[in-house]
Order: sequence, then structure tokens, then C-alpha cells
Amino acid sequence: MKAHELRDKYIEFFVSKDHTQISGASLIPENDPTVLFTTAGMHPLVPYILGQEHPAGTRLVDYQKCIRTGDIDAVGDPHHLTFFEMLGNWSLGDYFKDEAIHYSYEFLTKWLDIDPEKLSVTVFAGDDAVPRDDESAAVWRSLGIPDERIYFLPRKDNWWGPAGEAGPCGPDTEMFIDTGRDSCGPDCRPGCSCGKYFEIWNDVFMGYRKTLEGDYVPLERKCVDTGMGIERTIAVLQGKKSVYETEVFSQTIAEIENLCTVVYGDDEDKDVSVRIIADHVRTSVFILGDQRGVKPSNVGQGYILRRLIRRAVRHGRKLGIEGKFLSALAVGVIGMYKGAYPELEANRDFIITELGLEEEKFSTTLQKGEHEFEKMLPNLMKGKSREINGRIAFKLYDTYGFPIELTEELAAEHGFTVDKKGFDAAFEKHQEISRAGAEQQFKGGLADHSELTTALHTATHLLHQALRTVLGDHVGQKGSNITVERLRFDFTHDAPMTKEELQRVEDMVNDVIKRDLPVSFETMTVEEAKAQGAIAFFESKYGEQVKVYSVGDFSKEVCGGPHVERTGTMGHFRIKKEQSSSAGVRRIKAVLEK
Ligand code: ALA
Repeated sequence: MKAHELRDKYIEFFVSKDHTQISGASLIPENDPTVLFTTAGMHPLVPYILGQEHPAGTRLVDYQKCIRTGDIDAVGDPHHLTFFEMLGNWSLGDYFKDEAIHYSYEFLTKWLDIDPEKLSVTVFAGDDAVPRDDESAAVWRSLGIPDERIYFLPRKDNWWGPAGEAGPCGPDTEMFIDTGRDSCGPDCRPGCSCGKYFEIWNDVFMGYRKTLEGDYVPLERKCVDTGMGIERTIAVLQGKKSVYETEVFSQTIAEIENLCTVVYGDDEDKDVSVRIIADHVRTSVFILGDQRGVKPSNVGQGYILRRLIRRAVRHGRKLGIEGKFLSALAVGVIGMYKGAYPELEANRDFIITELGLEEEKFSTTLQKGEHEFEKMLPNLMKGKSREINGRIAFKLYDTYGFPIELTEELAAEHGFTVDKKGFDAAFEKHQEISRAGAEQQFKGGLADHSELTTALHTATHLLHQALRTVLGDHVGQKGSNITVERLRFDFTHDAPMTKEELQRVEDMVNDVIKRDLPVSFETMTVEEAKAQGAIAFFESKYGEQVKVYSVGDFSKEVCGGPHVERTGTMGHFRIKKEQSSSAGVRRIKAVLEK
């Protein structure tokens, strides 16, 4: 079964079980300052798992593009990916363990024709905080899975979430296919990394909310969150040992082979480079082509993108590929995915142009940088230390645009490590916004939808409307990012704003705050929302139900929330900065002062 067939079947199955298909979200979470990318299908659904009503109902299904960049350095082996698609179904206070497991079993055995004999499952073994999940085990048993293939495993295996430091979480039951390969020993079991067991699905029983203090508070309304990785699942269904052997990558790999003399499968070292290029190109296409796509830069998502592109270019050179090659590979990726992700086609020119620009920028310095590095090597070899100091690493970064991770990789190839602390110190000196900060942000968890971020979110709606009133209806949101300190809003407008315009916008927002207007929402289709004049800047399926938030009679905008209940509590709105973001796009940073 091919990836697109699995995607279609999954949706069809759950729709036949009264689930509503919703659109997957952007890869770049809106109003969530603590993660860079959407990492799971549940991520955009956190507010609903925590209790808000979802406009599409209590049974949902979708496919979601996900990026997990914790895996960047692991990419190269046959299994890791930075981008993957996750299929998921949700019950928001609707069904729980019994139905969820029945659905999973039916889909696996009847729709995917997986032999039940090959199925093993794991369930939560229980600990001091939460009891053993006998209920799930009993359901599996009733479906015919014998006790020998039901494994009770501890929290580190069978507990999922929160996605960050706080948020919904719970015990899970995971489904594995026995590939029939030899086991690595008597302790081999599902979850073992030897490759005998392949995990294909995870049903999470969201029964708790972990607080920032580390407490587990039972959720009033229990939810089910499931996730099936498309790439892994088709690999096992196709009897392949690796996701890179499936059709998802075969075209890109064939194109890479055509660009050089390498034959995939002949030489493990070269295979690593092939996989890195294939993975990184695909991920870069999705980041650039996202509905909230970003360009390569030195912070946040843009920095991850830059690392991916530069790493791909370097591995291209290692394979002997000459000239620019990423854009050509990107065309194939867009072609393969544009049906499921029309935004890639819509943003085709942007993807191709930006990939080309970054590749060009880096290619010219790569040779010089590598040359510089090679020149340093004899001296380094003479020394006792097998560590490259931070100053040198910073020079490679500053002069040649070598992301530190690339220097580390280059160093490792020659048996060296890099003094990361020294690098960071040199870096901090040079950069106002440190990359370390971006990493911190990435390591963090889901946004805590604290009062502050909620108020800033409402302020963003007010700012958006005020800008449209003052500057005109050509103003549209190009990006939004909220931290506990400030909001940042990018919007289409050609010229710098004048002092008077800024003052009028600020006054208008403060006037709405003072009027203490109520904030409310209604659920309707996107088309109805647009017909009512609501601001709606995102792709969605025709007829899809969405929430429309109104702030009194001032603003009306399609959005998932959350928002303050009345504007009077928000504080004083102040614009701190107005600047250019990119051609035709302005950026405002603003705060709420108490
Ligand atoms: N959220 C769960 C996962 O990512 C389903 O595995």
C-alpha cells in the first residue's frame, strides 16, 4: 500500500465511524511561543483536549504534517526522519478506551489486512501516580490478542505527553508489527530498537493534565488522541526494512543517483549522505511551502531550515554532485505532495527561489570554509586536545556561514569534538538574539495559555483590525508570534507607517480595551464567516466548520482561540517597534502594560 492510499483509507475509515475530517494545521504553530514546529497531530488540538468545544464536534480525524528536529543529527540512519505525516483520530470526551481500541483493531486487521498473529501491543504497567491499565489489556484480550503478546511496560514506554513541559497526557497503548526477523535476544520486545518490532500506532488515553509544577491533574473530560506515522506504516506494510526504501523517497533517491556516480545501497557512508539529502530536501520544501512558511535565517524556524539546507548541500558535495541541485529535487517533492498539501503548489515559486538562493549563498562559502578547516587540521592534529575551540568554530560560523552543528559534524569526521560552550560565548557576544535562545525555545513545551499570552492574542486581533481600518483592507496577516512578553505581527503593507498612523492604531486599540467589549465566538462554515465579513486568512476545506471570534462590533476573525472574555482586563496597548520584515511586509512588536 502506498502512502496516499493509506492516508485516504484512514480518513475514509474514521469518517465511516462518524468522525469529521478536519484540516491539518500549519507546521508553524500560531500563538505558541515554546515550540518551533508542530510535532504531533494533537498539537493544534491541545485547547480542545483541555476542554474547549471544537467546532467540528467530538469525533475528529485528520492527517497532519509534523517536524521533529530533535532528530536532525540522527537523520542519516535508515529510520529517522525530520518530517513525517501523522494520521490521527480524536475523541473529545466522546468514546474512550474500548471503542478506540476496537477501531484500531478493525482498521489494522480489516482495512490494512494485517495478520492479527503478527500484532503485539503494549499497555501501561502502572506506577505510584496512575494505576496499571488493565482495562486496555482486557479489550485487547477480548479481541483475541493473547497474553504473551500484551506487554505491560513502564511510564518511559507507555505514557505519552505532555508534548512540552505542561499539557494533556496519559497512558497509551501502542501497536507493533512483528516483522518476522530474528530477535536480538531473550529481552527483545516491542519497543526494542533491533528492528524486529515496528511500532505503527499509538492510542493515547488523555486523562491528565500535567502542570508546570509537575502535578498530574485528572481531566474532567477524558479524550483519546491517536497517531499513526504514514512513512513507518507503509514501510512495514510493503515489507521494507527502511522508510527510505518506499516510494516516498525512491524518486528523490533516483534523482540523486542521476546527479552523481553513487548507487544507493552500495556503500553505507554514501547512503548516509543520500538519506540526509532526501530527508532534508523534503522537510525544507514543507517549511518553505507552509501556509505560514519562513525563509532561511539565523533564528527560530528559519535557522532550522538553514541548517537543513546547508547540511544537504554539504552532503551533496561529499557525493560529488556539482552545481545547484536542491531546487530540481524540490520539484519532485512538490509534485508528489501537492494533492494532499495544495499550499506546496501555491508556494512553488517561493520554495524554488528561496532554496536556490540559500544554496547559492552557501555553496560559494562552503568550499572556502572546508578548505579553511582542512588547513587548520594539521595544526589541530599536532595538539593533544581533540577539541576544537569555540573561537575557531565561531569564525567558521561568522565568516563562512557554517552552522555550529555542521562544524561539529565536520570535526567528528576527523575525530574531533567542538567546544560548544566557547562557541556559545563567542556567539552571544555577537548576536542580539542568540541562537541558544532559539534552542531553548525549541526544547520547551507547548505554550502555557496563560493570561498574558491570551490577552496578547486578543490584542493581535484588535491590532489586525485597527491596521485595516487605518491603512486599508490590503492589510493581511503574514505571521503572528506571541511570547509572554510581547506580540509580533507581520502584515502586508508597502511603506513604513508614519508616526500619525502608528498613533491612530495604538489609540484605536486602547479605545476598544477601555470600552470593555465582550469577546465571544460562533461556529459556522468558512464561507459563512467570509460572507459575514470575518477576516479569514487560512486554507480550509470547503464547508469546514470554524470558530469566528468577535470583539464587540470592532473585530471579527476566524481563529481557534483562546481569548480574554472582556477587553477591559487587558491593560494598556503599546507599539514598541514598526519595521520592515521582508519585501511588502511590515512587522510590529507590541506589548500590554499593566
Ligand atoms: N500524540 C501521540 C503521538 O504523537 C499519538 O504518538
